[in-house]
This record gives sequence, C-alpha cells and structure tokens, in this order.
Amino acid sequence: MAVSRTPLIAGNWKMNLDHLQAVALVQKLHWSLKDADHDFASVDVTVFPPFTDIRSVQTLIEADKIPFGFGAQDLSVHDSGAYTGEVSGAFLGKLGCSQVIIGHSERREYHAEDDAVVAAKTQAALKHGLVPVICVGETSEDLERHGASAVPVAQLEKALEGVASDAEIVVAYEPVWAIGSGQAATPEQAQEVCAKLRDVIRASLGDDAAASTRVLYGGSVKSSNIASFMREPDIDGALVGGGSLKVDEFSSIIRFQKHVGV
Ligand code: 13P
Repeated sequence: MAVSRTPLIAGNWKMNLDHLQAVALVQKLHWSLKDADHDFASVDVTVFPPFTDIRSVQTLIEADKIPFGFGAQDLSVHDSGAYTGEVSGAFLGKLGCSQVIIGHSERREYHAEDDAVVAAKTQAALKHGLVPVICVGETSEDLERHGASAVPVAQLEKALEGVASDAEIVVAYEPVWAIGSGQAATPEQAQEVCAKLRDVIRASLGDDAAASTRVLYGGSVKSSNIASFMREPDIDGALVGGGSLKVDEFSSIIRFQKHVGV
C-alpha cells in the first residue's frame, strides 16, 4: 500500500459480545499489543461493537487512553423522531464514535438496504461528522454472471453520488462469498477490484480523494493471510469479522507489519 495512507484494521463484531465481554476484549487486546511492543502509531485500529456496548467501550477507551477508534455497525438515515428502533448519527457522534459501517452485505441482504438507502446513510454519517465505512461486494452469483468488479463498482458509484470531494470516507471491498466462509479472495483478486474502486473514487471525488482514501479488504481475513493482502498497492487495511472476536488472533492481524516477509 502507499506510504501516505495509514493502514486501518477494523473489527466488525456483528451481533457478538455483550457489553461486559466487549470491555474485556478491548482491554485484553490493548494489553496483548503492549506486551508485543506494538507501534500503535503505525496502524489505526477501530472496533465496531453492537450498539448496546458502545458506551461501555467508550468509557474504557477514554479512561485508559487506549489508542483505538470505535464506531457503530449502522445508523439511521434520520436525525431524530418517530423511528422506533433506529439510532441517529447525532447520538453516535456525541458518544465519540469516529466511524460507522454502512451497507454491509448482511444489512443489504437481511434488511433490504438498497443503493439508495446506502447513499442516504452515507450522507447521514457525513452530516454528523462520522466517517462512513462504505461496504460493497458481489455475491457468488454476481461473480459468475458479471465478474468480480461490476457490482461493487456500481454500488460504490451510487454511494458516492452527492459526496463532497473533501469528505473523509473509507471503502471496504467485501465479496459476499468470502464473508464467514473461510474462503478469502486471493490477494490478486482483491487488489484488482480495490484498484477499480479507487478509480471510482477518482472519477467521483477527484485525484486527492483517490490518493488519500483507504480501501479495505474484508472476507475471511486471518492472521495467516493478512500480510499477503497488505502487500497489495491498493489495499490499505482490512474489515475483519470472526477474526476480530479473539484477542490473540486480532492482535496478530493488527501486527501484520511484523509478519515475516512484509
Ligand atoms: P469474516 O471476517 O468473519 O469473514 O467477516 C467479514 C465481514 O463481514 C466484516 O464486515
């Protein structure tokens, strides 16, 4: 990856860990990295706990000055009002969230979030000072029919409509067939799509945004394969699901720079 972009390793906990387990994991992860003499400035780390955990994680991170960001897995398109069960970006911003995941394939699939909803949520995040982590990716059916990049490219083009060229965003390429399957994309496959996504950023937001925006790979990332992804020029980090729920594994993923051959 280009030196000017600080790598980002993000843990999407999905619907796992209650607030007590979340606090324990953050604390142990911090200890594990300190024990390993990890250079915290070399990699940004963000955790995305369930909504009910965020306040507890924030309190711990602030009290112990833990250099991790934290964010939410979703937000409402609305600011406030009669929207039972929804959570406003304004509330997340006030809690100290720095980022919010948008358009994860599980939300697209189980909550019928289409590209218009993803675009509206991207706008809602930016309005409240949150960096949207915009997720795109093809299903195995899309892959067979259209190849790897057509669907993620179209999804990102729609998400970026109306986004200002100086807005900070993160893009996560997560092939749906690779999520939770143990079958990650090859680094070459992922690089090819991430390069095309960077072209979309360039066409939509300009050269500066293309150079500074972090594009992550997600889908069965593990300590054994992270280094191979991070060697690719257009992959700036990872969005990690299952591998972010185990202290030793997530700690090792974050320390990918120490893996042999990187
Ligand atoms: P896994 O790492 O469990 O495959 O999940 C990836 C993911 O969906 C992260 O958002």
